[in-house]
Amino acid sequence: MKKIGVLTSGGDSPGMNAAVRAAVRKGLYLGMEVYGIQRGYEGLLDGEIEKLQRHSVGDILQRGGTVLRTARSERFRTDEGQEHAVRMLETFGIEGLVVIGGDGSLAGGLELSKRGIRVMGVPGTIDNDLGYTDYTIGFDTAVNTVLSLISNIRDTSSAHERTTIIEVMGRNCGDIALHAGLGGGADVILVPEVAADLNEVCRKVIRGQQSGKLHSIIVKAEGVGISTQELTELIEDRTGRETRAVVPGYIQRGGTPSARDRMLASLTATKAVELLYDDTDSRAVGICGNEIVAYELEKALGMKREFDRKLYELADVLA
Ligand code: F6P
Repeated sequence: MKKIGVLTSGGDSPGMNAAVRAAVRKGLYLGMEVYGIQRGYEGLLDGEIEKLQRHSVGDILQRGGTVLRTARSERFRTDEGQEHAVRMLETFGIEGLVVIGGDGSLAGGLELSKRGIRVMGVPGTIDNDLGYTDYTIGFDTAVNTVLSLISNIRDTSSAHERTTIIEVMGRNCGDIALHAGLGGGADVILVPEVAADLNEVCRKVIRGQQSGKLHSIIVKAEGVGISTQELTELIEDRTGRETRAVVPGYIQRGGTPSARDRMLASLTATKAVELLYDDTDSRAVGICGNEIVAYELEKALGMKREFDRKLYELADVLA
């Protein structure tokens, strides 16, 4: 394969730029032409495609966001959109793609691969919700961002003797909440994978108060059924302690990527380009243990993510 394209798609995540850099530089190293596609599948449909050089990706390794920009494309979801995308790739002579994004983006890649384009998926999402890989690019940075927020919130919560609920992202996956909650010593962690017992949540807060704790920290994943506002009111009402909610939102998606995310991005994107170079059929690249893995794309997308119950129980023991 001589000409490849690279795009970032869906919600941005810290480390996407490191992945773009690695894909471009490895491709050039192997003697391929590498094209950057702007704004994900949206830009592909509009032909926003430009040949990249080594210097095109200079000084981006440490930056959050994505220099290629990103989008969630409605047009690409249709058959016509996908066929148009294939024609656009043919127009530019692009034979294979590196798609950096989450499950929706990789599912889009699968549609292209069914139409004859070789697609290598690189897991770029803060959510850590892909079944085939232990970690996704951006997750570690997002967890660290939340950890630093928890530290700040502890100070003010203690000063005011409050309960604070921190609502974190992750869609239907509780991993950001679990890892940040465990690392940040949260009193309660609420995730979509485990049904919340609100009476038990209130009992924990009350027991904490009775044992002299100055504050309670609750980390709640956004995918948990009850709204954060409703939960805040319920806890304040039942425990009699002032309760506040903090929703860091997109702060979790920005910032300079952690060392782990830079490594994961560099290793997975490099592998994706090697697979294209070898004319391998479409794959999703990830990490399992300390090994970089590449599963057949359709199979990878069908793999179910297992929630780490043991870690969840440990967080409860340590709280
Ligand atoms: O998938 C990443 C993510 O940040 C989720 O955690 C969140 O639910 C969603 O994207 C927000 O999407 P948008 O950027 O469209 O508001």
